[in-house]
Amino acid sequence: MTRRSVLAGTGSALPKRAVSNHELAKTVDTSDEWIVERSGIRQRHMAGEGETTSTLAIEAANKALAAAGVSGADIGLIVLATTTPDQTFPATATIVQDAIGANGGIAFDVAAVCSGFLYALGVADSMLRAGMAQRALVIGAETMTRLLDWDDRATCVLFGDGAGAVVLEAREVAGEGPGILATHLHADGAHNELLYVDGGPSTTQTVGHLRMKGREVFRHAVANLADVLANVLAECGLETSDVDWVIPHQANQRILDATARKLGLPPEKVVVTVDRHANTSAASVPLALDTAVRDGRVKPGDLLVLEAMGGGFTWGASVIRV
Ligand code: UT7
Repeated sequence: MTRRSVLAGTGSALPKRAVSNHELAKTVDTSDEWIVERSGIRQRHMAGEGETTSTLAIEAANKALAAAGVSGADIGLIVLATTTPDQTFPATATIVQDAIGANGGIAFDVAAVCSGFLYALGVADSMLRAGMAQRALVIGAETMTRLLDWDDRATCVLFGDGAGAVVLEAREVAGEGPGILATHLHADGAHNELLYVDGGPSTTQTVGHLRMKGREVFRHAVANLADVLANVLAECGLETSDVDWVIPHQANQRILDATARKLGLPPEKVVVTVDRHANTSAASVPLALDTAVRDGRVKPGDLLVLEAMGGGFTWGASVIRV
């Protein structure tokens, strides 16, 4: 028997307002045709008044708790991945902790941009296996639209807001049993200038705007994701044919297609939400996971591979038996 972090429940939340490409094209020099062809995005949800990273995170967390059949008081660890915290400090995780009544346990944020959820999952899994808590809430929550420069059409059409959450439970399981089997995480700070925000408390004392050299990020993304997926599966002694569902970061339909092609993964095994959610950074993987759990695609016993790549660069992948 091995102590593993088992997926006990998932949840997600989206802002009320969905904005189509057509609506965006009324104020941005773009078209539905360009956005769909280059990215696969058809709409995104945008946070409105009263909707923040923490309100979305709390809604997703409560749904994940309900799905797991536990309450906030049962949660000893909250790791929240975000690039768009409510405030510079305290950590948004502590706002969630108070709202769900989990006070007294561990709560902190993780900043790894679009790979944030994979980093948060890896950290929470390590802490659960080390015995620092029995049950964890891992959240990816973002209001990326508040970082956008609406005069930069090459970036402002690509992002959206939302949150996703999972409850992880430490259990003693047999080798073939459920749980996180392996997580690989990487970073390469040499590529900071390809994807970054041009502000921050220590430099400009402003929040800043998202900047991206999309074409170069695209190239790195496909290469890094194919590598990390192959390596994490190899560590588990698994083949791509063993995978039931790939739950990828949702940046661009063409990245999803190119990565699947490179690994010989059938496209029908890849969960796609980029058309409806756009790129929600750290929220995109748990949003896609919750979508596939709730529509009945992901079933007990399935083998999942989660993967993401983003600013830093950071990237990672995790193999989970449901
Ligand atoms: O989540 C973190 C990871 N991020 C990513 O993985 C994003 C990776 N990159 C991408 O997804 C793609 O590179 C983009 C979707 C961002 C862009 O696609 P692309 O095929 O690389 O296009 P491009 O940036 O090379 O731009 C092509 C043309 C340019 O016009 P010219 O110079 O060829 O005349 C742009 O000015 O498209 C133009 N363009 C637009 N046209 C209409 C750029 N943005 C727009 C727009 N609407 N919104």
